[in-house]
Amino acid sequence: MEFGNTKIKKHRLTIGGCDCLELAQKYGTPLYVFDVDYAASVAKAYVDVLKREYPDFTVCYASKAFCCTGIYELLAPLGLGADVVSGGELYTALRGGMSADKIYFHGNNKTEAEVKYAIENGVECFVVDSERELTLISRYAKKPQNVLVRVNPGVEAHTHRFIQTTLVDSKFGFSIADGSAEEIIISISKYNNINFCGLACHIGSQIFEKQSFEIAIDKVTDFIVKLNKSGINVERLDLGGGYGIKYVEGDSPLTPKEYMQNTARYLKNAVKEKGIAPPRLIVEPGRSIVGEAGITLYTVGAIKTIKDVKTYAAVDGGMFDNPRPSLYDAAYTAVVVDRADEIATDKYSIAGKCCESGDVLIDGIELPHLLEGDILAVMSTGAYHYSMASNYNRNAVPPVVAVKDGKSCYMVKPQTYEDIARNDAKIEF
Ligand code: LLP
Repeated sequence: MEFGNTKIKKHRLTIGGCDCLELAQKYGTPLYVFDVDYAASVAKAYVDVLKREYPDFTVCYASKAFCCTGIYELLAPLGLGADVVSGGELYTALRGGMSADKIYFHGNNKTEAEVKYAIENGVECFVVDSERELTLISRYAKKPQNVLVRVNPGVEAHTHRFIQTTLVDSKFGFSIADGSAEEIIISISKYNNINFCGLACHIGSQIFEKQSFEIAIDKVTDFIVKLNKSGINVERLDLGGGYGIKYVEGDSPLTPKEYMQNTARYLKNAVKEKGIAPPRLIVEPGRSIVGEAGITLYTVGAIKTIKDVKTYAAVDGGMFDNPRPSLYDAAYTAVVVDRADEIATDKYSIAGKCCESGDVLIDGIELPHLLEGDILAVMSTGAYHYSMASNYNRNAVPPVVAVKDGKSCYMVKPQTYEDIARNDAKIEF
């Protein structure tokens, strides 16, 4: 039972030195709990390895994994930048103290308003994903705006097809193979207020094998050789994120240190062999920084046995706080927080409370015999949970409580029913 820095002490699950049962009693459930020291330690590991292995680097935290002001307050002082994909993420990053000159703006269809807003706020770099975006940038840039071009190296990474992003038919990036990447890069020279700095690629998410990253580096550095021959310099290379984490027993991802060491060394060799100038390396880990820092606490409510079929234990959360099982068949594990090391005797499907048959968080898990009122902790919920939560069925998005050294405080406050209905307007023509 090793997820992030969670520990079992006297049969009880703790996180950040806080007892999970006490957290549930103090803040109520459903509740996201976030271990700030764990996230900071992973972020530091990325920075420290690259300092040693590849000193010209930027680690940009991928905001989409978990976006609220507190995460930037935590990560900016550690030297991280941020990758944002919307005006809302950019706003939150700036408000959380992230400096604009460390922000990379991604997205396959940035709106005109977003481009304008980002330029007005001085974002360091756009990761261009369409011809149209160049026109928009050029319309607003008063001084040369740095851009990377998102390329699609066509790597098949072993992950769910919806979180795999560089297959040939992907909506992201320009294909290297069919020449469209080179075409768009050449076309940038038409704009005197756009400065081509390099390439970006991101092959997918929750990837365990380092080979996928190596193949991407092979393909992208081959492309750099080609561009160099046409007189185009590539000063920066953004390899995206995608480093996998542990969700269930049996998942054995590399450590961030291993992922980074391998990437840095592989890239160093590739540029040396191919005789190209080493670009600045940008990496954009999201999930691996925040994923195992988070757990979600739920209270068990209705328990229902369908004879000879299964037993459902329903909790007070569901697809509104965690849509990943219904979207990606994502697997999770859970523990009863005050009987965390008790032998499992029964099998349950952990159901959510939304009015959808598919709202099942864990379809089959062995647990100690559950009783109404038990507090369940679902592990590794720090990434793509709060950020993907919704008000479906007008359920409130759970608050996020930060924990550290036995202390706790809100990182995101609870939503009230009034908050949920705040923007509802009276129909008045
Ligand atoms: N950079 C780019 C350009 C990306 O598109 C992504 C993720 C990342 C970085 C961060 O990847 P990470 O290190 O977190 O794997 N909602 C899905 C994941 C979608 C990821 C999309 N892009 C999920 O819940 O699994």
